[in-house]
Amino acid sequence: MSLTPTPADKFTFGLWTVGWQARDPFGDATRAPLDPVRSVNELAARGAYGVTFHDDDLIPFGSDDATRNGHIHRFKKALDETGMKVPMATTNLFSHPIFKDGALTSNDRDIRRFALAKVMRNIDLAAELGAQIYVCWGGREGAESDGAKDAYVALERYREGFNILGGYVRDKGYDIKFAIEPKPNEPRGDIFLPTIGHALAFIETLDHPEMVGVNPEVGHEQMAGLNFVHGIAQALWQGKLFHIDLNGQHGPKYDQDLVFGHGDLKSAFFLVDLLERYNYQGPKHFDYKPARTEDDAGVWESASANMRTYLALKERALAFRNDPRVIDAMKESRIDQLEVPTLAAGETWRDLADPSFDVEIAGARGYGYEKIDQLALEHLMGVKE
Ligand code: GCO
Ligand code: MN
Ligand code: MN
Repeated sequence: MSLTPTPADKFTFGLWTVGWQARDPFGDATRAPLDPVRSVNELAARGAYGVTFHDDDLIPFGSDDATRNGHIHRFKKALDETGMKVPMATTNLFSHPIFKDGALTSNDRDIRRFALAKVMRNIDLAAELGAQIYVCWGGREGAESDGAKDAYVALERYREGFNILGGYVRDKGYDIKFAIEPKPNEPRGDIFLPTIGHALAFIETLDHPEMVGVNPEVGHEQMAGLNFVHGIAQALWQGKLFHIDLNGQHGPKYDQDLVFGHGDLKSAFFLVDLLERYNYQGPKHFDYKPARTEDDAGVWESASANMRTYLALKERALAFRNDPRVIDAMKESRIDQLEVPTLAAGETWRDLADPSFDVEIAGARGYGYEKIDQLALEHLMGVKE
């Protein structure tokens, strides 16, 4: 299996990822601004399928119409020349000071109205560029103090916001679905819809839940100490994995946005295994930040690293699944039995009591999971013998 990415692998990158100038709360930028046109060209040359963007990544906030059209024109030209796609777009509702108390959940009603108009304007551009997914990451939707924000009412406004945006997309006849991106904190002390589970429950309260799914990010669930593979399994199981942000994170700390696989590698291995086994068809979107230590060359090195790691993990996961020792160990562990419904056809709860069932024997029997875990690790390490 080749580790050289091609557009068929459907790897995508946010313009804000490779374009991050590495400004952090303690230090200035270490890299020059990156022209989006150059990002399109560099990523295309490395085998990516497409790019994604926030409105402000492409068109600086406050640009007049002529300037806006100029940016869009250059960008489209680069897309045409390279064949790169834009499967997803999103809105920056976090950088400008007006969003310091949130956008769709700001206490200030005028700001909520401005934010929704900003989203709708970029949805028009997203539709024009052929994007079918619109990501909503509510980075500033939250609070530092529970006295400063009525979380109950804020959720009502959040719901209203999504209902308005859904109505907009339907009225315009766009082929676009929304994907909510959960995150527990940063930049707000606490962010609403902090995990995949919160987002999935919220979606069911909307007027058109079928228009909204999730865009989970590896590091965001891991910041909350959660198992990302389990979260993705639930999103897939509920038909809600509309998009995914791949990156790396070392446990609960600030949002690291490392290269995919450069955090919890074993979790990344089982994530790729899951996505491939359940045939996730959406873009594999890298939302990472090239480390602040890197120069321009390091940016492109890290972009390629994301894709190479995904392909390597896909190869390792397949080898793991096809290894006869793994197949035997899984059978021994009764993993196949989990696929058998607990009640047989025609049975009810009345049929459950079984006097012949031996609790002593069943309780004493091991599951052999350690063996499977070690085999997974050895495949991951490329151990041959
Ligand atoms: C993060 C977030 C952001 C969002 C992106 C889309 O790292 O906190 O992932 O990068 O995904 O801004 O709005
Ligand atoms: Mn992140
Ligand atoms: Mn993200």
